[in-house]
Amino acid sequence: MIQLIYVSHATRLMTADDLQSIMLSSIMHNSKKHITGILLYDQGFFCQALEGEKKLVSDLFKTIKKDTRHTNVIKIFDDDIAARDFSTWSMRFIDLNHYDKSRIEGYQEFNEALYNENYLRPIEAKKLLMQFR
Ligand SMILES: Cc1cc2nc3c(=O)[nH]c(=O)nc-3n(C[C@H](O)[C@H](O)[C@H](O)COP(=O)(O)O)c2cc1C
Repeated sequence: MIQLIYVSHATRLMTADDLQSIMLSSIMHNSKKHITGILLYDQGFFCQALEGEKKLVSDLFKTIKKDTRHTNVIKIFDDDIAARDFSTWSMRFIDLNHYDKSRIEGYQEFNEALYNENYLRPIEAKKLLMQFR
């Protein structure tokens, strides 16, 4: 079993309908493949963790990478895991625009890291994602 985390930039600002359609199709497909994870959206960027059987996760990632709703898809973590971090979620969806970012631990560091690929580290991403599980 693996966990894969990537970040990407939305090709346009997502509407509530856009986000809902991604969320619904993710839940539908992922539950059939026993893939779990979280998708975080913040004005213009996504960060997603996918976990499950290795082949299924890498096939899904191939599909997701081709999706024209986002671009600049950068994998920041991909490793074997013994246990899932998001076991109860086919795809937990969080729109950060509804949250007070000053209260989200690690938000600032993560946001800054996104603008400088050299500093993209799984630790920032995980810190952020794990708060919402
Ligand atoms: C940021 C982002 C995250 C996505 N995450 C998933 C996912 O976890 N599972 C999934 O099946 N599709 C996901 N998708 C959608 C796929 O790229 C693809 O559109 C979908 O699997 C096709 O299924 P459909 O034809 O039923 O819509 C995501 C798309 C985007 C833009």
